[in-house]
Amino acid sequence: MNILLIGGGGREHSVAKSLSKSSKITELHCIPGNAGIEKIAKCHNYDISNQQEILDFCKNNNIDIVFVGPEIPLVEGLANYLNSNGFFTFGPNQKAAQLEGSKSFTKNICKEYNIPTAAYETFSNLDKAIKYIDNHSIPLVIKADGLAAGKGVIIAETREHAINSVKEIFSGKFGSAGNEIVIEEFLEGEEASFFVVSDGNSFIPLTSAQDHKRIGDGDTGLNTGGMGAYSPAPIMNSDLEEKTINKIIKPTLKAMNDYGEPYIGILYAGLMIKDNEPKLIEYNVRFGDPECQVIIPRLENDLVDLLINVKEKNLDNYTLNWKDNFAITIVLAANGYPESYQTGDEIEGLDQVANMDNVEIFHAGTKMIENKVVTSGGRVLNVNGYGEKLVDAKEKAYDLVKKINWPDYYYRKDIGWRALKD
Ligand code: AMP
Ligand code: GLY
Repeated sequence: MNILLIGGGGREHSVAKSLSKSSKITELHCIPGNAGIEKIAKCHNYDISNQQEILDFCKNNNIDIVFVGPEIPLVEGLANYLNSNGFFTFGPNQKAAQLEGSKSFTKNICKEYNIPTAAYETFSNLDKAIKYIDNHSIPLVIKADGLAAGKGVIIAETREHAINSVKEIFSGKFGSAGNEIVIEEFLEGEEASFFVVSDGNSFIPLTSAQDHKRIGDGDTGLNTGGMGAYSPAPIMNSDLEEKTINKIIKPTLKAMNDYGEPYIGILYAGLMIKDNEPKLIEYNVRFGDPECQVIIPRLENDLVDLLINVKEKNLDNYTLNWKDNFAITIVLAANGYPESYQTGDEIEGLDQVANMDNVEIFHAGTKMIENKVVTSGGRVLNVNGYGEKLVDAKEKAYDLVKKINWPDYYYRKDIGWRALKD
């Protein structure tokens, strides 16, 4: 099998590593990749939004499967383009990718299919939005409809904040992603992420994970892409998994079938759990980053085999096996992230991992310059630890974190705190 992986973050490094271990892989290519992926795949510096260039690449390299890591190419329709030209793409078509690309699309499905979620209304008119804010209790959650790099969600604690946020979004703060907004009820509870893989006919639940979205310890400060994660998430007991599958996942996949867009790829449900009941906060149409980095290493199956079974629509007859352990990942970021930060710093200590058990490093924003690994993004590395208990995995990961160095980096010291507080 020749596989092309699209993306260049920690998520893609964990996927690349797993693919590279398969006996079924002939060539592994990645666009664009990073300094870690470069060691196990052939990386190519193309624009992931240039569909023609990617199609030409597939033709010239006899690609059998394209695995799309990030959401933007999927929302732009890369899967439609490649599939219609004969290249199987692991990831949903453009319409189904609206589950992530448009919050109102998802909320409308929730309404139509009776999926538990926060009460909401959608608006494209400022006066109507203000009237809604005036008539509902605070806090309210204001969301730009389209993709806004994780920044388009505002939790407004006061009416003034809510109204100002709506005005800012309608004035173009998030470009056309803010032509429409969703205003919804604030949900209390604990968040967890649940993942399934779907072949268009049937699906298999993967496992759960918990991300840490805020920059600061104790879940404070600005939202980020994710500062650390662990899997499984102890809060997702089997009863909750069953409820999530029956009340949320199944009706959503049915909706996609009803719309003539059977869902192919990973579906990631962001959930709020309260009183052992799940509500849908949002969908993502791909693996989470950094959730993927704690899920993939726990998978015992050959990842290429899983992709082949999706391609052949054979998930009905396929079983996934998981290691009976915990995985945790700590994100090392450039100081200043998610706002402005410096790049180009040399990273030291990466070879320490060779002398340690139950740890692993995935690269995110890194590149090789003159044989040195240097920082090239906000989230730079993922340091993983594994253990029978979460607390062991955490200790392993943080021991390794201390051995890595570059001039100005930042990481959260409390990844796993919710699961460990009891
Ligand atoms: P989203 O981009 O929709 O995942 O939202 C980002 C984050 O905002 C989520 O992970 C939650 O922490 C928070 N959030 C979004 N919607 C709600 C809601 N209705 N109630 C409470 N928190 C929310
Ligand atoms: N870690 C959150 C996400 O990938 O959307």
